[in-house]
Amino acid sequence: MAWQRKDLLGLADLSVDETETLLKSAQAFKHVFERSVKKFPTLRGKTIVNLFYEPSTRTRSSFEIAGKWLSADVINVSASTSSVAKGESLKDTAKTLEAMGVDAIVLRHSAPGTPHYLANSCNAAIINAGDGAHEHPTQALLDLLTLKEKWDSFQDKEVLIIGDIRHSRVAKSNIYGLTRLGANITVCGPATLMPPGLDKLGVRVKERLDDELLQAADLVYVLRIQRERQEQGLFPSLREYSRLYGLNAARMEQTKPDVIVMHPGPANLGVEITTQVAYSRASSIQEQVTNGVAVRMAVLYHLVGGERQDVDLN
Ligand code: CP
Repeated sequence: MAWQRKDLLGLADLSVDETETLLKSAQAFKHVFERSVKKFPTLRGKTIVNLFYEPSTRTRSSFEIAGKWLSADVINVSASTSSVAKGESLKDTAKTLEAMGVDAIVLRHSAPGTPHYLANSCNAAIINAGDGAHEHPTQALLDLLTLKEKWDSFQDKEVLIIGDIRHSRVAKSNIYGLTRLGANITVCGPATLMPPGLDKLGVRVKERLDDELLQAADLVYVLRIQRERQEQGLFPSLREYSRLYGLNAARMEQTKPDVIVMHPGPANLGVEITTQVAYSRASSIQEQVTNGVAVRMAVLYHLVGGERQDVDLN
């Protein structure tokens, strides 16, 4: 399908066709890793700004790599070293960058809805790189790509997501994407870390991580426990959390032989997942990171005009 959207704001309203178009292009771009020269001329002359108001290693670096491998000019702007620190608003910052002729702004912000706000006020393509606890669409797309490489179909696959669903933009984007592709989702974690309305998203909610849940899972997706929430009294202690919800060798013994373990990173090793499990054969964490580059190349390709460059991806 020909790409129509100016922006990528979330997976909540991304159709199956659009999702599959992005994943198919990402699969094609994945071959770049086999090449000695990892460059396509596709986005030559285009300029992309990574505008990050929150820390990031994976998302920001992979957008930068993706843009550079597509031959775009990529500029990184972080809130702490820009005029944001002098009080400039998000809209003024974006309009200032747009006035310099940028074609796309990749935005990470702590406030939910900020990419949607910019999308309405800027002509540049706006790509959501994580907005508060709302969505992280490219993370979910790279997770879907990682699973697509292992599964023939998503239909009726059992997905178990463990952890802080309430504050997780990763969980929400994955719930939208995976349910739309036919997977069944169970979320598990302390009641204080569950947002209201999960039933409306078509997921099962469990507070106790029992053997039955682990035995049924085709994918165990472990979320980062957000240590900053501990002071808010939402869970008793990291040690207690680890005992009740941590993915460790004993719990892995309950899972299917071909279970897939994923984590969006950065991981608190020894808290939500042990080092042993994170680096085990079941773990796809490194593949997720690699696929992040391919997915972000696909997103930039479709949103920043790559389709019009008539480049053969095959
Ligand atoms: N998964 C993820 O968004 O990681 P970063 O915060 O390092 O970008």
